[in-house]
Amino acid sequence: MPLVNTKEMFAKAYNGGYAIGAFNCNNMEIVQAITEAAKECNSPVILQVSAGARKYAKPIYLKKMVEAAVEDTGLPIVLHLDHGADFEMCKDCIDGGFTSVMIDASSKPFEENIEITRKVCEYAHAHKPYVTVEAELGTLAGIEDDVKVEHGSESYTKPEDVEEFVRRTGCDSLAIAIGTSHGAYKFKPEQCTRDENGVLCPPPLRFDILEEVSKRLPGFPIVLHGSSSVNQEYVKIINENGGQLKDAVGVPEKQLRQAAKLAVCKINIDSDLRLAMTAGIREHFNAHPDHFDPRQYIGDGRKYVKDVVKHKIMEVLGSNDKI
Ligand code: G3H
Ligand code: 13P
Ligand code: ZN
Repeated sequence: MPLVNTKEMFAKAYNGGYAIGAFNCNNMEIVQAITEAAKECNSPVILQVSAGARKYAKPIYLKKMVEAAVEDTGLPIVLHLDHGADFEMCKDCIDGGFTSVMIDASSKPFEENIEITRKVCEYAHAHKPYVTVEAELGTLAGIEDDVKVEHGSESYTKPEDVEEFVRRTGCDSLAIAIGTSHGAYKFKPEQCTRDENGVLCPPPLRFDILEEVSKRLPGFPIVLHGSSSVNQEYVKIINENGGQLKDAVGVPEKQLRQAAKLAVCKINIDSDLRLAMTAGIREHFNAHPDHFDPRQYIGDGRKYVKDVVKHKIMEVLGSNDKI
C-alpha cells in the first residue's frame, strides 16, 4: 500500500469514535518505534514532520525513512507536514510526495489566514493524488520551532468563525485551540491544583468549545495539537537519572480519550516521545557508564518510545484494530 492522505482515515475515525495518532518524527529510531508499535496494534498512523525536523534530518531522509516504514509494515500511513509556515513550504512538501500538509496561519488575522489557507488548498487538491490540508483557527500557548507563545497570549477558537473559515478555505480538517499547548510545560503551576503526591493537576480542556464547533461542522474532522500527557513515570526516570524537569505537566489522557470519541480525529503527540527517548537514554547511561555504542543507548530510547506509542493507541486514541 502506498502512502495515503487523511480523507478516508478521518471519515472512519469520525464514525468509529476514535482518533488517529499524529506522531512527530526526526530520525530513524523514532520512525521505527512509531510504526512498529502501530503494526503490533493493527492501527493506522500519521507520521508528521516539522520545519525543525526538515532542518535536522533533511526532507529526503525523512521521506525515504517513512517510505521504508510503509514497505516494512504494510500499514496505511500518512506523511504530513506539521505547522507549515507558508505556501512555499507546503508546496515544497506536496511536490516532494507528502500526502497531507498543515498550513498554520493561525497567528495571522482571520482574512489573511483564509487567504493563505485557500491558496494551499487549491494547490493541494489539484495535485494528483489529492493531498489533504489541515488548517488552524485560534492559537495555542507553548513552543513550536522558533515561535514561543507565552501563557496568557493564547486564544481559544471562536466557534462562530468556523463555518465561514471551512467554507471559504476548503480545508479538509481544522485544528482548534481548547486549552492544549505545545511542549512539556503546558500549564503554569498557578493554573493547576496539586494531588496528594504533589503532582500538578491542570485545568480541564474546553469541551464546550469542541462541542459547539462540531455542532456547527457536522461530520468534519477536528485536530488537537499540543496533546502530550507528560506521563510522570518518564519524568521521574529522567529526573532520577540526572535530568532536571521541574513541574512538567501535560493534558490528562482521560480527556483526550473523551475528545477522540467526539469530533477529534487527529491527536498530535511529540513531547511524550521526546520524554520517553530521553528517559531510555539517561537510564542506559546511568546503568552503563562504560557504554559508547549508540545502538545500545538509542536502542533503549527507541524501546520506550515504542511502549508509549502502543499505550497511546490502545488507551488514548482507540485506533487499534482499525485497519
Ligand atoms: O508543534 C511542534 C512539534 O512538537 C514539533 O516540534 O518544531 O521542535 O520539531 P519542533
Ligand atoms: P506536544 O508538544 O504536546 O507533544 O504537541 C505536539 C504537536 O502539537 C505537534 O504539532
Ligand atoms: Zn502542533
